[in-house]
Amino acid sequence: MRLRNKPWAEEFINEHQDVILQNPEQHKGNWAAVFGNNHPIHIEVGTGKGQFVLGMALQNPDINYIGIELYDSVIVCALERIIEADKPANLRLLKVNGANLQDYFAKGDVSQVYLNFSDPWPKIRHAKRRLTHEGFLAIYENILIDQGEIHFKTDNRGLFEYSLVSMNAYGMVLNYVSLDLHANMPEDNVMTEYEEKFSAKGQPIYRLECQFK
Ligand SMILES: C[S@@+](CC[C@H](N)C(=O)[O-])C[C@H]1O[C@@H](n2cnc3c(N)ncnc32)[C@H](O)[C@@H]1O
Repeated sequence: MRLRNKPWAEEFINEHQDVILQNPEQHKGNWAAVFGNNHPIHIEVGTGKGQFVLGMALQNPDINYIGIELYDSVIVCALERIIEADKPANLRLLKVNGANLQDYFAKGDVSQVYLNFSDPWPKIRHAKRRLTHEGFLAIYENILIDQGEIHFKTDNRGLFEYSLVSMNAYGMVLNYVSLDLHANMPEDNVMTEYEEKFSAKGQPIYRLECQFK
């Protein structure tokens, strides 16, 4: 997702450095100091406009959440939403590339990774950009606690099938798979923007939970 360039975005981001952290590498290995507690940290890579990560933060005050997004023009929408919700103390944003997560998180800093409606990159030559490619799985393993989990939702069947194979080839354990999440919607499911959009069109939502051994 890339929205039209917003010339005011940079200034707006700079005005809210309490939410969108600058120089996140300085917190590597010491995220408890950012949140003022030792609660587990869950990250969403590719957080988009932030509906999911904000909903999760409000629903689970004893978990700290970090939404990670590549683009200024998108992350400012998440920032606006978070400001409207009075900036929950357990939520931060990082405007960084998920490919560089090891610059910001040490092994064990993160307890869970969420991937929601990740860009599918359908062309084979772009496979390395998929957030469930083995290269990304290795990055998640290097920042997660032992036996840390990835929770993944998508409307894209091709990406889902690819991800099942990629995670299996990496040696991960699948703990949960649904080919139609909304047919049996868990009570605590927090919908993402894309989930609302695609499920309204009648498309099934695929979901899995997997774990490093
Ligand atoms: C299709 S959107 C989904 C947004 C949201 N998760 C949802 O479900 O509504 C994917 C988002 O991931 C972001 N993204 C893609 N690759 C990324 C990366 N390597 N690091 C950080 N964000 C990334 C894109 O900019 C985009 O906003």
